[in-house]
Amino acid sequence: MLSALLARVRYVAGTFDDASVYERLDDCARAWDEEAGIAYDRVYYLSTSPAFFPVIVQKLGERGLDHREDAEVRVVIEKPFGTSLEEARTLNRQVLEVLEERQVYRIDHYLGKETVQNMLAFRFANGMFEPLWNRNYIDHVQITAAEDIGIGTRAGYYDESGALRDLVQNHMLQLLTLLCMEPPIAFTADEIRSEKVKVLHAIDPPAPEATVRAQYTGGAVSGERVPGYLEEDGVPQGSTTETYAALRLEVDNWRWAGVPIYLRTGKRLARKVTEIAVTLKPVPHMGFQSHGSVGPQPNQIVLTMQPNEGVSISMGAKIPGSRMRIRPVNMEFLYGTAFMSQSPEAYERLITDAMRGDATLFTRDDEVEAQWTICDPILKAWGAGQVPVATYAAGTGGPAEADALMPAGARWRAI
Ligand code: BG6
Repeated sequence: MLSALLARVRYVAGTFDDASVYERLDDCARAWDEEAGIAYDRVYYLSTSPAFFPVIVQKLGERGLDHREDAEVRVVIEKPFGTSLEEARTLNRQVLEVLEERQVYRIDHYLGKETVQNMLAFRFANGMFEPLWNRNYIDHVQITAAEDIGIGTRAGYYDESGALRDLVQNHMLQLLTLLCMEPPIAFTADEIRSEKVKVLHAIDPPAPEATVRAQYTGGAVSGERVPGYLEEDGVPQGSTTETYAALRLEVDNWRWAGVPIYLRTGKRLARKVTEIAVTLKPVPHMGFQSHGSVGPQPNQIVLTMQPNEGVSISMGAKIPGSRMRIRPVNMEFLYGTAFMSQSPEAYERLITDAMRGDATLFTRDDEVEAQWTICDPILKAWGAGQVPVATYAAGTGGPAEADALMPAGARWRAI
């Protein structure tokens, strides 16, 4: 299979503003059409530095490669889609001057993850969760995207970006929308995306005091000494770029008003874990509590995206014995054991969907702008020095300052 694929690979070299590159690309594609006697759909995949997205789209348009009479043309655009609301708007405008929105596939690879899509199945294929899924039963939500890796060789990109732009603006807000959206009337790209965007519109940008930014200092990850962010190769001296971000948000609508949603992400934390933990309100009366027991704890529903992909539900159970002692136990579903099959890589799924013309797992123009609308004021407040840059030692659970986002009695789950 691979050799058959490789036999059909052509490489066209040139600069992005060179019209002849697009001519030669088109020649290759036309030769395949002729050989097969059909007009193939075309997918242009822009995996370049974001600075080149506008010129490539413009050149595709100038050469007339943006539409075909007899087949579809789609353009996949990699992240980051702008670095601010203004840039995202400009980029959308430039792209949509040439293409129609239905042709544009903005990638967020989290949406290609099986476990992320499972959130839709979990919520909308089971009757038992819906009655609980609201402000009457949910106490708070924690969304965590922790990584143990540092910035590797990406200092150039990362120092310009930081954790908020790199993970929160896209991946984490996408997780939040799937968690909070209303059931769509149909599982089609536009119905799902319309519900997601409504969630984003219901979120006000958090006040500076509901945000934390921090940078890692030297420490140990899995027993290995690692340098601090400022000592990493290529990081400018005195950089204040955050490698950790935490926020408290609220989705201010009928279902979610008053439920705090906590987001945190960081590099060089103790381990890699991506999860959503939904904590239900405690039982109203603690009659069970007796000496030597943890006592009833609020139920937690934890959706784990990685590693150990699955869902776990914690509940109070009686510890065997003559006394009424209660301790939380977990009911677990693990992908690995339930299905015994390998999930496709996120990108495999997304590239196939782009080829098939299914945009469900891609971000629409209004979604991307709504995501920036939430993040832009945070970046501005941080840029104006309204929130100091905290620090945390590499290999730990993050800065102490993040604990202060939580109300009394609640705490972050251990990383
Ligand atoms: C990318 C970020 O989008 O997502 C990286 O640019 C990050 O900094 C990565 O490491 C995390 O993705 P995953 O799939 O490993 O959770």
